[in-house]
This record gives sequence, structure tokens and C-alpha cells, in this order.
Amino acid sequence: MNHGTDAMHTMPEPADTLPADLSTLCEIHVNGSTVRAVEGERLIDALNRVVGEPRVPQVCYHPRLGPIQTCDTCMVETNGKLARACGASVVAGMTVVTESARAQNAQKEAFDRILRNHMLYCTVCDNNNGNCTVHNTTALLDVEHQKYPYKPKPYEQDLSNPFYRYDPDQCILCGRCVEACQNVQVNETLSIRWEDEHPRVLWDGGTEIGGSSCVSCGHCVTVCPCNALMEKSMIGHAGYFTALPKSALDGMIDVVKAVEPEIGYGPILQVSETEAAMREERVKRTKTVCTYCGVGCSFDVWTGGKGGDRHILKVEPGEGAANNISTCVKGKFGWDYVNSEDRLRKPLIRERSAEGDRFREASWDEALTLMAQRLTQIKAEHGPDAIGLISSSKCTNEESYLMQKLARAVVGTNNIDNCSRYCQSPATQGLFRTVGYGGDSGSISDIAQSGLVMIVGSNTAEAHPVLATRVKRAHKLHGQKLIVADLREHEMARRADIFFRPSPGTDIVWLSALSRWMFDNGHAKTEFLSQWVNGVEEYRKSLEPFTMEYAAKICKVPLETLEKIAHEVAATESMCILWAMGVTQHCGGSDTSTAISNLLLVTGNYMRPGTGAYPLRGHNNVQGASDFGSMPAYFPGYDKIADDEARERYEQGWGVKIPTAKGLDNHEMVDAIYEGRLKAMYLIGEDMLNADANANYVGGGFERLEFFVVQDIFFSETCRYADIVLPASPSLEKEGTFTSTERRFQRLYEVMEPLGESRPDWRIIQEVANRLGAKWNYSHPADVMHESAGLAPMFAGVTYDRLAGYKTLQWPVAVDGTDSPLLYTKEFHMQDGRAKLYPMEWIAPCETEGDEYDLHLNNGRLLEHFHEGNMTYRVPGIHAETPECFVEVSPELAKEQSLVTGQWVDLGSRYGQLRMQVLVTDRVSGKQLYLPLNSKEHPVNLLTGSYTDRATHTPAYKETPVKMTVLPLKGKSPLPRLNFRNGTPTPQRGVEVERKWKRSDYTMPGEGAGSGLVQIQTK
Ligand code: SF4
Ligand code: SF4
Ligand code: SF4
Ligand code: FES
Repeated sequence: MNHGTDAMHTMPEPADTLPADLSTLCEIHVNGSTVRAVEGERLIDALNRVVGEPRVPQVCYHPRLGPIQTCDTCMVETNGKLARACGASVVAGMTVVTESARAQNAQKEAFDRILRNHMLYCTVCDNNNGNCTVHNTTALLDVEHQKYPYKPKPYEQDLSNPFYRYDPDQCILCGRCVEACQNVQVNETLSIRWEDEHPRVLWDGGTEIGGSSCVSCGHCVTVCPCNALMEKSMIGHAGYFTALPKSALDGMIDVVKAVEPEIGYGPILQVSETEAAMREERVKRTKTVCTYCGVGCSFDVWTGGKGGDRHILKVEPGEGAANNISTCVKGKFGWDYVNSEDRLRKPLIRERSAEGDRFREASWDEALTLMAQRLTQIKAEHGPDAIGLISSSKCTNEESYLMQKLARAVVGTNNIDNCSRYCQSPATQGLFRTVGYGGDSGSISDIAQSGLVMIVGSNTAEAHPVLATRVKRAHKLHGQKLIVADLREHEMARRADIFFRPSPGTDIVWLSALSRWMFDNGHAKTEFLSQWVNGVEEYRKSLEPFTMEYAAKICKVPLETLEKIAHEVAATESMCILWAMGVTQHCGGSDTSTAISNLLLVTGNYMRPGTGAYPLRGHNNVQGASDFGSMPAYFPGYDKIADDEARERYEQGWGVKIPTAKGLDNHEMVDAIYEGRLKAMYLIGEDMLNADANANYVGGGFERLEFFVVQDIFFSETCRYADIVLPASPSLEKEGTFTSTERRFQRLYEVMEPLGESRPDWRIIQEVANRLGAKWNYSHPADVMHESAGLAPMFAGVTYDRLAGYKTLQWPVAVDGTDSPLLYTKEFHMQDGRAKLYPMEWIAPCETEGDEYDLHLNNGRLLEHFHEGNMTYRVPGIHAETPECFVEVSPELAKEQSLVTGQWVDLGSRYGQLRMQVLVTDRVSGKQLYLPLNSKEHPVNLLTGSYTDRATHTPAYKETPVKMTVLPLKGKSPLPRLNFRNGTPTPQRGVEVERKWKRSDYTMPGEGAGSGLVQIQTK
């Protein structure tokens, strides 16, 4: 399905329904009619609802950005005075006239001024797709001739960003891009210096885009109402004539300019509209969900044009529940990998020979026959538990469901896991212990409206970029407090009201000390606790050692800082705590996650909007992979394998007996290989060698396997150990659903057909199952969801119809389709409906620095790369910005060791060795190092060890002492000049249109001075 996006889009979308809050409903009079509106809402929104065609023109207004007030095209009369409709608010009884000569003259004058900045060459413009605001406004206002001649600006086009260009000559100075960059993305790169003789959009106050602080999130490009900012992938591809050589294009533009004075714009626009309509034939717009992180951004992918069906013209966000206009660089521009030369296109079979093994291409039939034979044989010889399956957090819910069904119902083992074992399981455990559901307790909108956001061990701006924008915006514009605990001074830390660096592995101590302080100082929410929480006394007793003084000593954080935090937490009306791998990837990851939830309970920060626990899920579908039962002890919806009722339900549904014992998790599978208990593995969509800790140990395990099947889209490092490699399809080539960090189900539709002979994972899994004797007959992922919804109460009401297009559901979903944006509104998900405070104990990290391994190695993501970089290194623009991996070293350590950026060093741990270049930066401090995850050549997991979280076996990746040997070899900085980290942002509060109004050459459109124009600045 091409999710109904064929119709031409116009932007901004009209607000066609009344706002949800109708408490202040009132009447106003518009063009002589009495209509309903909501007191205080933007007048333009009300007019867009009640005024039919022609609509009130509005060039700079975008509902997601709010009033910018730069274009003046939305002039209307309110109570007899001219005013900008976007800047005015509805007042009960007001009279509004949109069609008077006075209003329309003002609108036309404003738009004439805009056309001075923009050449109308629509037929040969790649933005002529029916959604160009400048084109559509020209038509709306029936512009026949230009009152003011077009005047180019004295600046060149800027093509220095790998993904988009800026053309000052087409820029109408509406400021939408500035508003989006300053106040939605809050990267604060863009501005317009209104005082300049020829204003234009500026990057970092006036540098080239490449090398500025621009993070290529694409917000500005998405909201630009014309072609001034445009995706490079559109240029020369979208239109029928736009690929012509520049000289030919210029010639065509000259012809248009020559005839315009005589025939007017009417016929010219008609030609371009015909060309735009023709484009619809070869441009497909398909809704998908981002395949990178767990935020769950969704958007339309435009494919086609001159480049054919597999050419991605652009990614256009707008309606996604989590992101609306927002994306990060990966979601907006990170898709080239789907067409990479390296994609696996055919199954591969290992051929062994004395000269060395090699892989040869095979037919699907041969590969699957061999796979079925070998698995059947191993099962017959060693039993079903000699086989392990690993599902993928990149795959869909339906695929995860099928993998666990394959394990349990066909192979006959509970040996099934997914990579949430590497990051999220401890967070889930902490929530299971205290509140019951293993998911975010609210939505991203709750985080945005919270009074205080606390971020622990999460580099949110780089790992969950769009979610971070909501915090940055609330903090910048709405007074939200931000407290950050982290080893590194990353962007959120720099923005925070309080940033502190607890010693590695000690977060549980200060979190528990805060809880104790709340009790001791009368700030514990005792009423909430007595109504909703069990175990208070036992918990309080366990807090005895956790004084603030103790925390200050263990965590090496000044006592005053901890006290300041405690006062902030006590004072706030609502608090959300966000955490990620900086918490979970420790030996005490589950305990620290529990401590977070405990603190939220003690302070009453559950059960209300703007509160709760937010373990930020890493992969796009790491939440769904676990939700749908790819776990050794749980069925879909977290029903326990050990629960007789649940097991019988599945046995009946599937018509098989299911083993009762918990299976092996990822970590245990590797140990079991060494112990000779596990002989075969089937692993999909996971570069386990690079993702699991202690890569040498994991690789040694793979070598010992009797039979190993890996299914992926690329020949990953893990594939090197496989006997069979099966070519799968990435998200753009299949249908299904993903579940984001906020428990949100979203559908993805097939954007393009599978490449070569690759197949969607669900089809491959079904084929494997059937060759092992099952009789599955799913014709579409919807069938799988239907079956799962019938078996797992948590998903009872999930249907593909309820998820059509941009519709979403947040689990749990009742049979009638009622979903749960906020968990725990009526009770906690515990047996008696009451939460539990879980007693705390601090155990020191498993591995700490000593004399030999004297440095602490931290690791994590970079904004532009994803995990091992299997996808993002195949995006040329990202590769150009960040081609190399590096280790971050603090200025202090650099000085001590006489190191400079670009120097080569050897890093050694007890488990392995790496050679890499240094980047000296004050993001890290003292003897702490930071190594990004994304490198095939320098995988951090050659250094990490085999210690794990005590409760879940999540590797303690963040507890890795290393030593560093400086080599006498220096190179260039591993960060090219192009990288955004070299830029210097220019924060300001949006477009600052007042500065435009102060220009001596600015007059109000309409009737000049004394016209009665009302200047309303709303921000
Ligand atoms: S960061 Fe760059 S891409 Fe994102 S809105 Fe700002 S200028 Fe545009
Ligand atoms: S580049 Fe920015 S200011 Fe210029 S037209 Fe586009 S959104 Fe408006
Ligand atoms: S924030 Fe995450 S989901 Fe959104 S576009 Fe970026 S990587 Fe994709
Ligand atoms: S829409 Fe631009 S000033 Fe109102």
C-alpha cells in the first residue's frame, strides 16, 4: 500500500477540527458569519477551520512552529484594525474580516514583497510538487504580474553540506528554518541578521554550512516553504526538466521571464501545474517508521522521479505521533545503505577446503534445505536445547513473534533472546520489580511537559536526538529544569541547570541517598506511598547507609551539589527520569534502574501526566523484540513461560507442547557453546560479534558451533563465522510494525521491493519453520499480528486497521482499542495493584581501575552513526562527516601524556587491544576515555570483558579499565573540518522578527503609517 499519500500535499495543513480543550469555547464573527472558536487560540487556526476557499494566505505560518510573523501575508481586519492573523489570538465576540479590500491589499502587498526575493521558475524547479507554499500563494492571490522586480542577492549557493543546499537567491526570508533550528530542534545554528543590507539565512552567524554546528537534522529543509533549502537527492531528480544542463535551464527561465509581462503568471502557472501533476505518476510517497533509534519517528519516503523506483527523493516528516516535523540526520538522510553495492542479494553457503573456507552463492532452495537438514540432525542427536535462536531489534514485531514461535513451537526450545540483553534488560528488570510494566511509564509528551527532567547515563541528544529536542525546547522556552548525571559533558550536560559526574558505577548510591533525604526531610509523598506502595518500611531500612555524606564520598560529588539536587527534586511539581546504557551496562544495572524507580515512587512521580520512568530504548524495535516474546523466560506480552495458564494458552493456540524451563539468554548461549551444550544457532539481524562484550570470547564460541545460520542485509563480521548466510530485507522493503520507546505501535509500509533475491525476514522465518515440519500460512504480517493479539492480553486490541497510516496505539491495548499513553492511571501492574519499593544495597563495580589498567573506558553512540555503523558507514554523506573512529581524551590527560589530537595510541584491556587516533576534548575529564561504538576496524568490544549485570546478564560494557600506550605517530584530526562538532552555535530566541520591524526600510503592508496595524509579538 502506498499509504494514501498520492494526493498533493499543501503546507501548512489546515487545522480542521476544534482544539481538544473546548472549555473556553466562544463565538466570533468572521466575514459576517458567527462561528465557534476557542478563546486564546491562534486566530489563524480558527480562520483555517472556518473560512472556506480561498483561504487566508499564510506563507511563514506553520502550525508546528507557531507564529513567526515575518511575511505579513495573513493580514486581516480584527475589530476594524489590520492585524496579522497568525500573531493574533481569538477573543470572544471579536469581528474578523478577511476579504475586505483593505485586508486583501495588505495581503497582496506583502506577497509582492516576497516575490522580490524569489524567482518563479516552477516548471523547472524540483520543488514543484504541489506543496510549494510560494507557488500556491501566487495562485491563491491570483498574482498576474510582479509589482516589484525580482532582485538576486549578492551571495552564492551553499552546497557544502552533504545532504542539502541553500540558495539565497530563492530565499524569501520567512524565517521558518530559523524558528525550527532555534526552537524545535534547538540546535541554534541558524539566524537572520535583519540589520544587514541584504539579509539571508546564516549558519553560525555566517560560515559555510559544512563545518558549521549544523547537525543535518533536516528540520529547516522540511519546513522551508520553497526551494531555498532543498534535499540534494531531489535536485535534478524530482522534475521532468530539472536535470537539464544549467545553460538550458537558464534559457527556459529567460523565456518565462520574457513572456510574463505579456501573458501574466496565470498561464505560466498552469504549465507548471500540469508538470507537477505529471510528477505524481512517477513519484511514490510511502509512510514508514525510522529504522534507527527507539524514538519512533515516522515519515513519508518519496521515491521515484528520474532516478527510478529505488531512488529516494526525500524523507518528509509531518504527521508522526512522536516526531511530527522532527527528524535527526539518520532518519532524514541516512538511507543510502538500502541501495548499497554491499547488500546481500543471494544466500551464501560456506565451502570448506584445505586452502581455506569460502562462501559461494546458492539458491534459496539449496540453502534452506541444508539448513533444515542440519537443524533436524542436531536436534535428533542433541535435543532441541542444543539449538539457540536470536531475534533482531531491527526486525518487526511480527518477525520477533515468529522467531519465538519457531523456537518454542517448532524447534521445541526456549533458547530465544534478542539484543535488549545488551542494553535494556536491566531497566525492564528495575521496572518489573517496582511498578510492573517493562516500558516507559508515559509518552514523550509527558517528558516535554514535566517540571523537571533528570537524565542519568544517557547521551540523549546523540542517542535519541528527536526526543532530546523536546527536552531542549521545554528547557529553553518553558522553564523546565534539567539535571544531568553523566561521565561526559555532552550536549544535554552543557545545557543542564545541574550537571554532575558521579564515579562510574555509583549512581545507585546518590539516587538512594536522594530517596533517604526525601524521607528524612519530610519530602517523601507519604499519602501517595500509603495509598499505592508496598514495602516502604523495609525499603527505608535498606536506605540506612545512604546518607548524603556517604553518597558524596562514594560518588565523588560535592555534598552541596547533591543537596541542591535534592531541593530541586523536592520542589518540583512533576519529574521524569530518563536513563539509558550509562546505567544499564554495569554489574549493578538492574539495581540502579530499580533505584531510579524507587526515587520516583518516594517522590510521588508516577500516575500523573509529566511524571514517570523513561528507560530510553536504543534500537527502533528493541522494545517490540522483547514485547513479542523473543526472550528465554517470557511469551509475548511478558506472560511467563513458567505460568501454567499462559503456557496452556499458547499450547492450545499453537497446537504443540511448550518446554517449561526458561531458555538460555544471549550471554548463556555463548557459555553453553563453550560447555558443549549448544551446537547450533540461527541468528537474525544482529552483528553479535561486534555487539556482545568480549568479542574474542564470542568469536571463539562461534568457531566452536557445529552449525550457524546468520540472516542479515550485509555480510557483517558475525557472518564470517556462519555456515549459511541468508539475505534479508531492510525496513523499507517490507511491511509490519515497530514499537517505539514510548510503547507506541506504528506501521511501516513497503517503500520499494526487496533487492535482488533478498526477502523480508518474516517470509524467511516462515519458510524455515515449514521446512522443519510446521504448516504456517501467513500471507501478510497482519495475519501474524492478528494471531498475537488473540494470544497476548497486552495486545488484545491491536489491529492493522487501527494502525492504518499514521494512526498509532500505545500498549497495553484493550480489546476495544483503548490504548495507554500514560501507564498506571488506575493502578500499578502488580498483583495487588500496588507498586513496591525495592530494598537497596550497593555493590562496587566488578572491575575498577588499578595500577596497570589505570584509565576508565566509557563507550556509546555518536549522533551520526548507529551502533557498529553497518548502515551509516554506507551513507556517503555520513561517512564524509565522520569517517574514522577515535578515542576521546581529556585535556588533562593529554597534557600529562603529551598527547595531541590525531596522535595514535594503543589501548589495552585484560581482554584485547586496539590501535586508534586520539581526539582531545573537554567532553571527557581526568582519566576517563570515551570510545564511540561505531567502528568495524576498532570495535570497542575487543576491550570489554565478560562481567554482567547480576540480575539480567547484560554485559558490564561500561566497566572496562584500560591502559594507554602513546605511539610516536601523529596524523590529522580524525574529525574532518566538515563535522558539526567544529561549529559554534548562535543561540537566540527564534527569528527575532522585531529586529526586522525596526529596519528603516520596513513599512507595514496595507496602508502605511497610521493604518491601524496592530503589532502583536506573541513570544
Ligand atoms: S541543525 Fe542544521 S539541518 Fe538542523 S535545522 Fe539547524 S541548520 Fe537545519
Ligand atoms: S531558507 Fe529559511 S528563510 Fe529562506 S525561504 Fe527557506 S525557510 Fe524561509
Ligand atoms: S531520532 Fe531516532 S527515530 Fe527519529 S529520525 Fe533519528 S534515529 Fe530515527
Ligand atoms: S503567516 Fe506570515 S505573518 Fe502571518
